[in-house]
Amino acid sequence: MALLIQNATVVGPAEGISGQVDLLLEHGMITAAGEGLQAPGAMVLDARGLLVCAGLIDMHTHLRDPGQTHKETLETGCRAAAKGGFTSLACMANTDPVTDTPELLRALRARGAALGLVNLYPVGAVTRGLKGQELTDLEGLMEAGALAFSDDGVPIMRTDLLREAFRRTEKLGVPILSHCEDAELVRNYAVNEGPVSRVLEIPGRPAIAEELMVQRDIMLAAEFGAPVHICHVSTKGAIERIRQAKEQGLLVTCETCPHYFALTEQEILTRGTMAKVNPPLRTPEDLGAVLEGLRDGTIDVIATDHAPHAADEKALSLAEAPSGISGLETALAAALTYLYHTGMMSLDDILSKMTAEPAFILGLSRGCLAVGEAADLILFDPDEEWTVDPEQFVSMGHNTPFAGLTLKGRVKASVMGGNVTWKEESIRVL
Ligand code: DOR
Repeated sequence: MALLIQNATVVGPAEGISGQVDLLLEHGMITAAGEGLQAPGAMVLDARGLLVCAGLIDMHTHLRDPGQTHKETLETGCRAAAKGGFTSLACMANTDPVTDTPELLRALRARGAALGLVNLYPVGAVTRGLKGQELTDLEGLMEAGALAFSDDGVPIMRTDLLREAFRRTEKLGVPILSHCEDAELVRNYAVNEGPVSRVLEIPGRPAIAEELMVQRDIMLAAEFGAPVHICHVSTKGAIERIRQAKEQGLLVTCETCPHYFALTEQEILTRGTMAKVNPPLRTPEDLGAVLEGLRDGTIDVIATDHAPHAADEKALSLAEAPSGISGLETALAAALTYLYHTGMMSLDDILSKMTAEPAFILGLSRGCLAVGEAADLILFDPDEEWTVDPEQFVSMGHNTPFAGLTLKGRVKASVMGGNVTWKEESIRVL
């Protein structure tokens, strides 16, 4: 059924639409935009006072399904995404079984499509079982719909194998999303190597573990002119290396996540395992470099690295608990709070890093509001304050270091393919 959204103010990437407009959504597309649109028989949503932008695209989500549905199911993850304002997700391959065959990838896509909550784009594994020993059928995975390849969660330590992967992905034009940590240097350590690891008298993950791999992967990709996207950038040195590579015109892009521009390693001391994440939260100097990288465009994308874990797993000791932060439901609010309301970045630039930029890297024709484009959009209030209460999360992962913090900015409704996938009770569709 057609949906008429009235009186929303357009922000973020858009073409031919600006200011306060009505948007008509029919057959999964935006079919008209303008003032005072009439659409007899359409459902109507009055969005006066709210902002509208293209649906957010998260190019880095862990959905745990199949195999670890005690942490998250496909449905809870997709519902959490919708609540967080995401209409498209690229979900990482570190499920059980790993998404390392065309059949598994197709099956996941079909399950995502059947749910109809987000556009789900499973990422194909680079190596079989994420074991880092044998390349997958990259060509077959691409044919099955993979828009990117990644072993995210584990670094690919064998340089010969990754080199071969880049040789092949250059021909496919598909990016490898690279988890850059030298496994020998980070082992299973829980925190950054720095003041906090010294206070706790435990070994830490040094910044150079990330920087070495960033430099290696840039060099390997450049040898073939293959695209490489560096996941969850967290250190000053890594950002500097990516900046230099971009200046040389190499096909390098990267992302960071809200926890790296909002929080530092100090959180470990008060929040314990809730602040345990890979790569780890870093120093204030690193956080400053992340902010600078976002501002000057070195960092292309804000992704969530949504990594839900069960409460009893996060209740283990700092050494034993799994790494990860449940991020889908706080990402936009955290970005608005720490980047927009601080005057650090414009709303348009922030939204671009959560819509058009990831769409471009993944080769998706999404992430921009325009007549003729898919009817994926969200309505939000950039000024509404709310306090993060993980018990209210739709995600089964309540693991967040933002718990109890007041954030400014709230998603009011999400629309994917013309259907309302999530809305607050106060939003009425008549
Ligand atoms: O903290 C993390 N958790 N980082 C990753 O790269 C993987 C993720 C997970 O899957 O739990």
